[in-house]
Amino acid sequence: MKKILVTGGLGFIGSHTVVELQNAGYKAVIIDNLYNTKMDVLDNIVSITGVQPEYHCIDLRDKKVVQDFFKKNSLDGVIHFAASKAVGESVEKPLLYYENNISTLVYLLQEMKRQKLSNFIFSSSCTVYGQAEELPITENAPVKPAESPYGNTKQIGEEIIKETCNADGLKAIALRYFNPIGAHKSAKIGELPLGIPQNLIPFITQTAAGIRKELSVFGDDYATPDGTAIRDYIHVVDLAKAHITALERLLDNRNKKDFEVFNIGTGKGSSVLEVIDAFEKVSNTKLHYKIVGRREGDITAAYADTALANDELGWKHEKTLEEALLSAWKWQLKQ
Ligand code: WQD
Repeated sequence: MKKILVTGGLGFIGSHTVVELQNAGYKAVIIDNLYNTKMDVLDNIVSITGVQPEYHCIDLRDKKVVQDFFKKNSLDGVIHFAASKAVGESVEKPLLYYENNISTLVYLLQEMKRQKLSNFIFSSSCTVYGQAEELPITENAPVKPAESPYGNTKQIGEEIIKETCNADGLKAIALRYFNPIGAHKSAKIGELPLGIPQNLIPFITQTAAGIRKELSVFGDDYATPDGTAIRDYIHVVDLAKAHITALERLLDNRNKKDFEVFNIGTGKGSSVLEVIDAFEKVSNTKLHYKIVGRREGDITAAYADTALANDELGWKHEKTLEEALLSAWKWQLKQ
């Protein structure tokens, strides 16, 4: 049974990926420092798959501990999620983001090189495109100067990986996520924002659940049909499955280049008001919201050109926006 390290494996996307790895017959080894999640996610994964992943409470900033881990564990691949991901927080605490998102990547790659381990899947983001000139966005769209330290760490991360592939024979795939939303159909794992949610969907579900008074819609004066910003919302289970497809591309040596990039989205853009409307329908609730000013750093529209992921990677999304929103609502009702 091939052994795959999942860093950040108790996080939102990480935990869903561990479930899909186990479903696909891999042994998942999780490293997570519990900085932005809870230990009971591990039990919830087991309650879904019936399989206990190996878990190590390790902070990847601790270089020595990372070295010891790699000495003791022979692995067949690494899927790297562990990173800080709040855009706003990254503006206030850039050094925390550069330390936690960049130095940990370097330590991981150093140990992979030492152990001659070459299959690496990197969690990247459509944030690297900024506001793309053309929509839908292809992987050839220019990477724009980052609008936040968080976005910069994804751009720098991709560069570090690409150059390591050139120099040291690493094989890597960067998956540029659009907007991950939703939860596993069991409602046992999902998006667990600690504190006030930054992202739209958890704020919507917490408002509908009465935890938040009302949703603030950040701006209705964008150059879009209804004035609110457009994003490509992808079900987190579809996104998790993309990681298994990418991993198997490397394990089976089907990659065309040592470093490859794929956009992972649905190819469909939805505005904030369209998301609210869809949520009200699937949850049969009336959402309280008000229109306020734009949020600093937000772009008008982003949605993926998914041709490369569909035709080259061999992955395509399956679930609709409505299914994703309903799964997020069911997850919220279980909190
Ligand atoms: C979506 C839309 C907001 C909250 C970020 C990161 C990206 C990824 C996902 C980590 C925007 C609007 C939001 C609210 C609102 N993060 N909104 N009221 O900013 O597209 O992407 O999160 O991987 O890398 O960049 O996602 O969910 O914050 O916002 O009106 O209370 O909802 O303005 O148009 P975003 P989001």
